[in-house]
Amino acid sequence: MGCFVSKLSEKAESINSQNLQTEFRYVDGRRFHNVKESVYTLPNDEEESDRLHLQHFLLRYIWQSNFSAPVEHILSKPESKILDVGCGAASWSFDIATTYPSTNIVGLDISPHQPTHIKPKHFTFVKANVLEGLPFDDNTFDFVFQRYLVSGYPKEKWPYVMNELVRVLKPGGFLELCEFSYLFDAGPADQRLWFTAAKVCEERGVDWNTYEKLEEYAQNQGQLENIKKEVKQIYHGVKSNNIELSYQ
Ligand SMILES: C[S@@+](CC[C@H](N)C(=O)[O-])C[C@H]1O[C@@H](n2cnc3c(N)ncnc32)[C@H](O)[C@@H]1O
Repeated sequence: MGCFVSKLSEKAESINSQNLQTEFRYVDGRRFHNVKESVYTLPNDEEESDRLHLQHFLLRYIWQSNFSAPVEHILSKPESKILDVGCGAASWSFDIATTYPSTNIVGLDISPHQPTHIKPKHFTFVKANVLEGLPFDDNTFDFVFQRYLVSGYPKEKWPYVMNELVRVLKPGGFLELCEFSYLFDAGPADQRLWFTAAKVCEERGVDWNTYEKLEEYAQNQGQLENIKKEVKQIYHGVKSNNIELSYQ
């Protein structure tokens, strides 16, 4: 998380000065995506992948599940299609792929950092920026899952993103969004860190309190029904929201 306030390294500056569009850029020894239009600030190197894997297994333990929506029947159905939006290190996708081997899972991310050598056969990676539209036909997926994309989209783009997520969802399919809230009473160091993160997000037009608006975004989208929200407060004070929606 310290990368929020990192300074460009000489290496990154020299790449930029040659005006080369490389897939990644490097700042203080960390690797980042190099998509200029993106507001996303976290790294995408091995260290970040390790953090995401750890976070995934902690979340699975906290929720005692990989999903909250009633999608067991979808996941058990042969050939069902699942989309993991902003899949990151693909921890969720690979876990689902292992538990439900007859599904087809697509992990989409603006920048690849999922492992390739242990990739399940029925997992496909697609590189795309959600803000430019999802590269799939209408009504493609039975289940669309998106976790921790709060810092990936400017506030005003959320209605567009919701429309895209619903557009690619089949009638009767489910959409699940999972976001987190501020830390409470986490001590002065964490408070400083989160204050800095919130400030960086604000500068980029990102709404750090998106988790509070998920229901509103879902309702305003207009094609969703059975909108449900689940909240868990975890031991060090973070609140995490899951919201599950069905579309018919
Ligand atoms: C905090 S990580 C979460 C990864 C994963 N969903 C998880 O829960 O482990 C956010 C991911 O979203 C991706 N991302 C951010 N903005 C994006 C965008 N506009 N389009 C596609 N992916 C994006 C980032 O590259 C990153 O891998």
